[in-house]
Amino acid sequence: MAERIFIGVAWPYANGPLHLGHVAGCYLPADIFARYHRLKGDQVLMVSGSDQHGTPITLRAEQEGSSPQQVVDKYHRSFLDCWERLGITFDLFTTTGTENHRQVVHDVFGKLHQQGYIYADTMPVAYCDRCGRFLPDRYVKGECPHCHNPDSRGDQCDRCGRTLDARDLVGPVCRRCGEPIHIRESEHLFLKLSHFQDKLLPWVEDHAHWRPNVLNFTRNYVREGLRDRAISRDIEWGVSIPLPGYEKKRVYVWFEAVIGYLSASREWAQRQGDAEAWRPFWQDQGTRAYYFIGKDNIPFHTIIWPAMLMGYGGLNLPYDVPANEFLTMEGRQLSTSRNWAVWLPDYLDRYAPDPLRYYMSAAMPESADADFSWGEYVRRNNDELVATYGNLAHRVLSMVHRNYSGRVPEPGSLGGQENALLEQARSAMEAVDANLAACHFREGMRVIMALAQEANRYLDARAPWHEVRQDRQAAATTLWTALSVLSALRVMTYPFMPFSAQRLHTMLGFDGRVEDSRWEMQRPQPGHPLPPPAPLFTKLEPTVVEEERQRMSTPAT
Ligand code: MF3
Ligand code: ZN
Repeated sequence: MAERIFIGVAWPYANGPLHLGHVAGCYLPADIFARYHRLKGDQVLMVSGSDQHGTPITLRAEQEGSSPQQVVDKYHRSFLDCWERLGITFDLFTTTGTENHRQVVHDVFGKLHQQGYIYADTMPVAYCDRCGRFLPDRYVKGECPHCHNPDSRGDQCDRCGRTLDARDLVGPVCRRCGEPIHIRESEHLFLKLSHFQDKLLPWVEDHAHWRPNVLNFTRNYVREGLRDRAISRDIEWGVSIPLPGYEKKRVYVWFEAVIGYLSASREWAQRQGDAEAWRPFWQDQGTRAYYFIGKDNIPFHTIIWPAMLMGYGGLNLPYDVPANEFLTMEGRQLSTSRNWAVWLPDYLDRYAPDPLRYYMSAAMPESADADFSWGEYVRRNNDELVATYGNLAHRVLSMVHRNYSGRVPEPGSLGGQENALLEQARSAMEAVDANLAACHFREGMRVIMALAQEANRYLDARAPWHEVRQDRQAAATTLWTALSVLSALRVMTYPFMPFSAQRLHTMLGFDGRVEDSRWEMQRPQPGHPLPPPAPLFTKLEPTVVEEERQRMSTPAT
């Protein structure tokens, strides 16, 4: 039965280019999941957008000597270009800068405020006497009390990664003018998270299917006791607050960014020409909502956003939040400020999308951190994609062309080896289906490659290149069996490697798009003409490894 699946993906700050950490963290798994469900005939809505507000953007604008709007326009364009080239198929990738988003945020805010879930109180905030203004956390710098990094931010230390409060810093000063800060009371708005404690705990306990890291983290967080959180900031760049007296403050970026999932769904519906089309995805209880995020975003998606939805009422809560762990680079922590990263636009300028999608699927940081290294990238491309999967396709299709004038050969009766291999293909399709439904991407990819390996072994054992000279019928049976396995691989690899899957689909003589096929092997029809084959993947020179490592250790300009 067709299902309805909502997929929300973390909204990247539009303050710098995407890197491989983003890809492995949430964009690739979300896209695999969306493509899988579309292929199964399910109804999918996958949305996200540029997170345009908050101090990450204003600080970047000050660094670049431009305006916040220029910064977000530039990176939003870059994001859209990357999705296109990497094949990340959002139904809508919008921004938090739209009028629609502002309206939806005001609606959610208003409803929560009206019910008493948002209230005003004062809190101590850093203040700079010289600049005459309150300083949001990232505008305060000082020494990290933990690792003694002299240039730590007020909200988090870049070096040791710990979250901080501006008041924890040693010798905190204003980031703009260097003046020591003072603490002043300022009036802010608070989300009454404490109210949702008793509702959230049983709700979390009801989600035993969550990944252990997500479940444990959330459970502990709620059990420790939820404290109300400030949801306004002393900043001018952001969504306005629909209450008198707050003209100089803005909605806290996290509070409004998560509302983006809802506002983007409504925008998608409007763009469809059916303004109500978002409703089944949010209001029909049979819909399952998945949120793909990196592990640093867990509490916002398993506690704060669910609490906001509970307070708002009538909208679906997350069904699963398959958060990934981190990706390290060449064995070290990824760091954008130190250029220890591979930038996605650069990658896409130099290499094909599928090898990266393949590597990041096979080594996805699903339950533990995972590492990206160029050596492993080249090895997996050359040994696994080119020599195993690509070679299987190329050998079989070339032989069909050379010996059967490019038409699917007519098989004779199948022997034990044929039946065993076809049975393995059938059970692989079942296993990958189950793995993808459960967001076990690594395991799914492993099963697929194991089948490709098995098919190569079968081919080596039968040696159709010899068979064809002694027994054309036997060779035809061998090639037809291998074509059937390739047809299964075409379907199963599609969510992971859509570009090569589509090429294989065409080379196997199928029309249209793989996505319109079903999750079935679909045997090639004897006699059906096949277009001339071309290699699915290209071998990489080992010199790539040194070249790319060199690029990474060059400091960013
Ligand atoms: N912009 C945040 C980040 O890059 C993620 C926001 S996700 C959402 O870490 F929840 F706000 F949508
Ligand atoms: Zn100052």
